[in-house]
This record gives sequence, C-alpha cells and structure tokens, in this order.
Amino acid sequence: MAGTVVSPSQDELVGCVDAAVQAPSIHNSQPWQFLLVPGGVEVHSDPSRRLPAVDPQGRSMHISLGAAVLNLRLAVRYLGRREHTELLPDPRDRRHVATVRAGERYTPGGDDEELYEAIPHRRSNRSPFEDVPPPPGALEPLITAAAAEGAELRFLDQDESDFLLYLALMADERRRESPAYRRELYNWVTDDPYRDDGIPLAAVGPWTEGGPVSLRDLAPDREVPGRASVRLEREPTVAVLTVRGEDAPPQWLRAGQAMQRVWLDATRRGLAVSVFTTPLEDPELRDALRRPSDPITYVAFRLGYAPPAAATPRRPVDEVIAYTRPVPIRPPHLG
Ligand SMILES: Cc1cc2nc3c(=O)[nH]c(=O)nc-3n(C[C@H](O)[C@H](O)[C@H](O)COP(=O)(O)O)c2cc1C
Repeated sequence: MAGTVVSPSQDELVGCVDAAVQAPSIHNSQPWQFLLVPGGVEVHSDPSRRLPAVDPQGRSMHISLGAAVLNLRLAVRYLGRREHTELLPDPRDRRHVATVRAGERYTPGGDDEELYEAIPHRRSNRSPFEDVPPPPGALEPLITAAAAEGAELRFLDQDESDFLLYLALMADERRRESPAYRRELYNWVTDDPYRDDGIPLAAVGPWTEGGPVSLRDLAPDREVPGRASVRLEREPTVAVLTVRGEDAPPQWLRAGQAMQRVWLDATRRGLAVSVFTTPLEDPELRDALRRPSDPITYVAFRLGYAPPAAATPRRPVDEVIAYTRPVPIRPPHLG
C-alpha cells in the first residue's frame, strides 16, 4: 500500500549497528550502546568508556558518537530506506544522543552507497604520506562532504599547517606532563592481542625528528617493537573542521558526523587520513587559534597517499546492543 512503512527486520537493524561500530573513536574507546526500537536504532553514550583525562568535557566522546551516527544513517539508507534522525531527542537524558529511524522505501542516490561501502576500509593511517600532495581536485569534494553535515572544512596553507603541527606537538608535550593522562593512555594502548578495544601498540605509528607522526605520542615511556624513525611528508596537507555555534553536545555530534563523512569520502577517493585533536583539547591553545567570532575547530585532518593501514579491533555487536533501556543521565538542572 502506498505510504505504508514496513519496519526493517531485527537482522537488518543489527546489520546497521554493525556498520555503526566501525566508526573511529578517541583511543578506540567505542563509547556507545545501541537500543533496537521499532523501526530504528537509538544511540546512547557509555559513561563507563569516558576518558576523563584526555576528554574531561566529553567532547571527543560525542564526536566519536557522531561518527557512529553517520554510519548508522548510511546503513539505513543502504537498506533502501529514507532515514530520519533526531539528535539528543530526550531533554531529560543526556546519554541518549540520537535516534535513527528507517522511513519510506527509496532508491539510494548521490554518494550514499559509495560512502557506505567505504565504511570497512576507513582507517587511521599514522605513517608518513607520499611527498606529492593530493591535487586540489581530490580535496575539493571533501569540502562539500563537510558542508553536507553542516560543518566547514578548510585546507590550511603551508605556513598555517606548519604552525598547527607545531602546536599539536607542543600540546602533546604538555599533556604528557600529566600522570593521569599518561596512565589513561597506557590503559587504552595495548599489546594484548585479545582486546577488542583500545589502540593496538602496533598501530601507534613511527616517530620523526620533531615528534610522533600521529601528533599524539600514543606510547609515552613505552618500548614499541619495530618503531621506526621516519621523515614526515614534505608539505603535509592539513585541513580543519569547524562548526558554528556553541561548544556543546549538539555541535559535537554534528562535528562527528561531518568528520566521518569527510573521512569516508576521502577513503573512497583513495586518500590516506589521520586525524588529530591534541591542540584543540588544550583550552589555552584552542583560544589562541581563533578570534572569539570564529567558529570552533573540532578536528584536524592530515591527508595524503600511503599504503593502507591495518584495521583496529571492535567489540562485537552483541556486546554493544542493550536489551533494556540504558539508565538515563539527567542534565544537572533536573537533578
Ligand atoms: C575525536 C577523535 C580524536 C582523535 N584523536 C587522535 C589523535 O590525536 N591522534 C591519533 O593518532 N588518532 C586520533 N584519533 C583516531 C583514533 O585513535 C582511531 O579512530 C581509533 O584508534 C580507531 O582506529 P581506526 O580509526 O583506524 O578505526 C581520534 C579519533 C577521534 C574520533
């Protein structure tokens, strides 16, 4: 019957969650839980996976959740359904960050299918990239990808890139002065082959004269077997992602969705990507980087060409699907 919406099957929704969990997350903390509801999937944060030292406000956690929401939306469209997404739908529950529902049938169009198909191929690539930078034609579509999610992607000129990379290394050095930060990193960067979260020690990437290629030393005070010393590409291609408005969960979720769309779009175009947030986590450096009227930068990208990086592990879907509603977290004013 025209206009009738048939709910996707349980298996189809589980398949959508399987796409969602492949999203990137800060320290591969995978701070999410999913609840299957009639016709869709709710996304909740998992406060037990919050990283208080690196991310005291939960900004990076929400950016990670936003990335999972984008994957979920693409997966619903890939089922041949329109997707209806509400961010932070319950004002009494900060933990419930999104509900994605499958709507009417439609034929996926535009970039939807290719972006969905890029999900399992997206990686953080912490190796040096080729010296030849990507041509403007390969980068311009990424600006459109960010705009499609209400964000702005700006490519930096060489002086600006050098300055941001310098700030990132400085911020990283400052962060490492904190024992709590180093302890947290130690817990989330792992040589345990059975762990299905955290960053494998083998993925931390090499070192350059100035600091780690990853722009965050993921293994301070640790021996990394086979960790090479390399030279960074000559003229790194760096872009920053900004979102207008307050520095608050709705904008963080928007930034996460935009980050993921840019990352998937870059992946399908054969680009290697790594992201870094070190200079943006330090309130002083963040403010030094912008005038008060400027939109806030949430994520910085390094883009180029390189052999593919290995995949990092994920928890299986049955561990992240909740069978009862996750206990809500009330905003402070509701007590
Ligand atoms: C908000 C956010 C911040 C991140 N910051 C960094 C960073 O500063 N340096 C880095 O090497 N990786 C960073 N990452 C990448 C994660 O470590 C990576 O996504 C995670 O380990 C999973 O690996 P994958 O991206 O290869 O799937 C960040 C990811 C997110 C979502």
